[in-house]
Amino acid sequence: MAKVLVLNGPNLNFLGIREPEVYGTTSLAQIEQAILDRGHKLGLDVECFQSNHEGALVDKLQDAYGKVQFILFNPGALTHYSIALRDAIKAVGIPTLEIHLSNIAAREKFRATSVLAPVCIGQISGLGATGYMLGLEAAAGLLPDK
Ligand code: DQA
Repeated sequence: MAKVLVLNGPNLNFLGIREPEVYGTTSLAQIEQAILDRGHKLGLDVECFQSNHEGALVDKLQDAYGKVQFILFNPGALTHYSIALRDAIKAVGIPTLEIHLSNIAAREKFRATSVLAPVCIGQISGLGATGYMLGLEAAAGLLPDK
């Protein structure tokens, strides 16, 4: 069974509380439960992980090497400046899909740039929690050995 890692970065543990007009009222726990349910239906072995710490996310990416076939990654604000995460994604060579709840192209100028996008296979931005579900569909569709 293909392994999919769903990573969430800083402040995403505050979903439901944090700027609900931007990020919605659903908590991360609720989104992760929906991700696990959908992953199960798609025949994927899904693990979810959230951290507010860049280094913990680098460690998780490195741990995934050789074990995980696909990554969905919402790096939060680290999207816009973390060269360490960019290097880690490139280093492990696991297909990684960047996910954002909000449309980062339609907000403050500094959010429009993702330093991770060039090393990701694609990006889903602006679709709320549906973005993670579509990301799982992409994983299921792209992985040969489900
Ligand atoms: C985000 C967008 C980022 O700019 C922001 O810093 C976040 C959340 C999103 O999901 O829309 O923390 O990644």
